[in-house]
Amino acid sequence: APESVSLLRGALLHFLDEPLDDSQGTLASGERDPAIEYYADALLVMHAGKVVALGDCSALVAHSDMHELVRLSPPHSVTGLMMPGFIDTHVHFPQLDIIASYGHCLIDWLNTYTFPAEQRFADPAHAAEVAEIFLDELLRHGSTSAQVFATSHASSADALFRAARTRDMRVHAGRVMMDRNAPPALLDSGVTALKDDERLIADWHGRDRLGYVLTPRFAPTSTPEQLEAAGQLLKSQPDLHLQTHLAENLDEVKWVAELFPEARDYLAVYEDVGLSHERTTFAHGIHLDDGMRQRIADRGASIAFCPTSNLFLGSGLFDRASARHQGINISIATDVGGGSSLCQLESLKAAYQVGQLHGAVAHDVAGLASRANQPLTPWQGFYQLTLGNARAMRLEDKVGNLRPGMEADVIVLDPTATHLLARRTRWGQPQQVPLGEVLFALMMLGDDRAIREVHVAGRCRKRHGMLLSDHPA
Ligand code: GUN
Ligand code: ZN
Repeated sequence: APESVSLLRGALLHFLDEPLDDSQGTLASGERDPAIEYYADALLVMHAGKVVALGDCSALVAHSDMHELVRLSPPHSVTGLMMPGFIDTHVHFPQLDIIASYGHCLIDWLNTYTFPAEQRFADPAHAAEVAEIFLDELLRHGSTSAQVFATSHASSADALFRAARTRDMRVHAGRVMMDRNAPPALLDSGVTALKDDERLIADWHGRDRLGYVLTPRFAPTSTPEQLEAAGQLLKSQPDLHLQTHLAENLDEVKWVAELFPEARDYLAVYEDVGLSHERTTFAHGIHLDDGMRQRIADRGASIAFCPTSNLFLGSGLFDRASARHQGINISIATDVGGGSSLCQLESLKAAYQVGQLHGAVAHDVAGLASRANQPLTPWQGFYQLTLGNARAMRLEDKVGNLRPGMEADVIVLDPTATHLLARRTRWGQPQQVPLGEVLFALMMLGDDRAIREVHVAGRCRKRHGMLLSDHPA
């Protein structure tokens, strides 16, 4: 068999569409949601970084050519649950080393920890070292794709792209634009700094699995002139992504109103210069009203809900139900180092908890049942980390599920990773609980130990719970 073919056999779950809200009982009751595709015994065939076949193992092997392939190249059998690799749509690689720094609130945390940490990235050797460790940590946690903030130093973005290319990971990233309201060592040269972005685009955008993302940090740290120039660049190259922060914290919202007195609201600061488009990711979007949410939906922009960050920094409770109701593309992300974990299972747990609290708070305040009390179901959660996040980033033709033709990023979740998980799920035993419950237990009890294997573009990067780079051959 050709060297680059690899076959995996075992249970597999992926999503063909967004699951129904009431899919809770699906697969327990035997009733099927067509959005959910589950194989108890799948065969997944990968070649040259892509999925070439996926199906029920015995049905596929009945094909004579598949039979021959399986004979020549026996599949690797997995005992856990295969899924598409997770996608983290909002994360800051230079903040890896300040994760879990006593938070208080956004602006204090930025000044006390974040800006000093980011200044160290003026040193390209430091950037290169952290980039390697960061991507290994993402893989250890099952995230095979990410949309990443670097620092304002162009060399920090180079370092990340270089490390991502070595691993053949799908990484979309950008240099942070910021030309005011931060320590001088972090400020760039405003409009002329965009020459750096143009050079980075030329070097990295569309190369292998890499993409460039225009990255104005947030409205307070860019002059109107710099935001305007970013809008011009986006207009000249509309296939670029754009990432920034929006309405995370009430003090920040007030500050933006002072800095941009002529703008209708925070969102309008971005809209007025053409920065809200269908490849825009607004991180947080907590303090928005229905009108602003509708404008985001109308532009096809997305909101990255970062629940561990929102809880850690006390930013507020994201109104996921309203955002969904108004048709916004939502993703779920870690926002490390504001977020307290790179583990997207932890993000699902926190998202569930935020949903619970949002409902309770809305109920207390309004005295009536609001549409907000819809804590995340496990189906929505795992859909979100895979196809949902891919759709929010307009990457659903590349990653997000394991249909033939898709990029072959596969993880194997282990529902027996801890004694308690094994006891709760009874995975692999006759009394195994229904799949929805297995998934919910993973999202409430799981951590990086539950990510048993990781395959990136068809190549194994983590096996038996160990990163392969931890164990040079
Ligand atoms: N707003 C502006 N910069 C940042 C950042 O680095 N992290 C978070 N969470 N919010 C921000
Ligand atoms: Zn962020």
